[in-house]
Amino acid sequence: MAAPSRRVARKDILLCPPTYLELKYEINPWMKKTTPFSRERASEQWEALVAAYRKVDAPGRIELAPPVPGLTELCFFGDSVFLCEGKALFGHFRHKEREPERAAVKEFLLARNFRGFEVKEGVFFEGAGETMLWNDKILFGFGKRSDEVVRHFLRQTFKKDVIDFEMEDASFYHLDTSLFPIHEELIVYYPGGFGPIDNATIESFECEKIQVSEKEARAFACNSIVWGGVVFMPRGAPELRKELERRSLAVVEVDVSEFLKFGGGIKCLTLQHYL
Ligand code: ARG
Repeated sequence: MAAPSRRVARKDILLCPPTYLELKYEINPWMKKTTPFSRERASEQWEALVAAYRKVDAPGRIELAPPVPGLTELCFFGDSVFLCEGKALFGHFRHKEREPERAAVKEFLLARNFRGFEVKEGVFFEGAGETMLWNDKILFGFGKRSDEVVRHFLRQTFKKDVIDFEMEDASFYHLDTSLFPIHEELIVYYPGGFGPIDNATIESFECEKIQVSEKEARAFACNSIVWGGVVFMPRGAPELRKELERRSLAVVEVDVSEFLKFGGGIKCLTLQHYL
């Protein structure tokens, strides 16, 4: 698939298969241990996502990390680390159920020569779920999972300005459930994920903005990524899709319905290393 003419940001992406994915605990409103869930179906959806990424001629690598028995949600590989320009800032999970994942992620990344940094012991930071690079600034979400103080660790580690957002709704607990920067001049967001001040901040950005409805936000429309100039978004958000296509953006829809049962989508499955 050919990428559009806009300058395509360079990045690598890292994914880990859902081999041991299991609905073992409930740590967000999407997770219900009683929901019927098929790991086989999840694996098929994950394979289809990776295959779709591979079809794009993108300026970056796709790396796969090995699954680890017992680490049921390791497929949401980026939730304990933010990666930018060869540096990795490792965090801690708010819920003890996921904390054992961080060692596996750290070991994998340090073996790949990332320079490792840490937030202070006792500080919660859920990595790429809460952070994105946009116009050379770090957008950072806190309040439900990450601590506000992480802003300082981000600034010190990456030497970039940080714009922070307080997450207001338990269902939209990570920044990547409500905010999706597409390129320098276009941002997609769900206003219900934020309070009035942060909504005003987003409105003040000198770029085009697309608001997502609650219905499409609940389909994890904001939990999307751009890979090689192509927007990868979940099924179930036809309005957003229309808005993107109206702007001549190439869109690929992927079914991630099994992952929505965990409160995760395409973006959560795809750790980005901004280069
Ligand atoms: N069940 C996981 C949790 O609640 C899902 C994580 C989704 N990741 C994300 N980047 N939004 O922690």
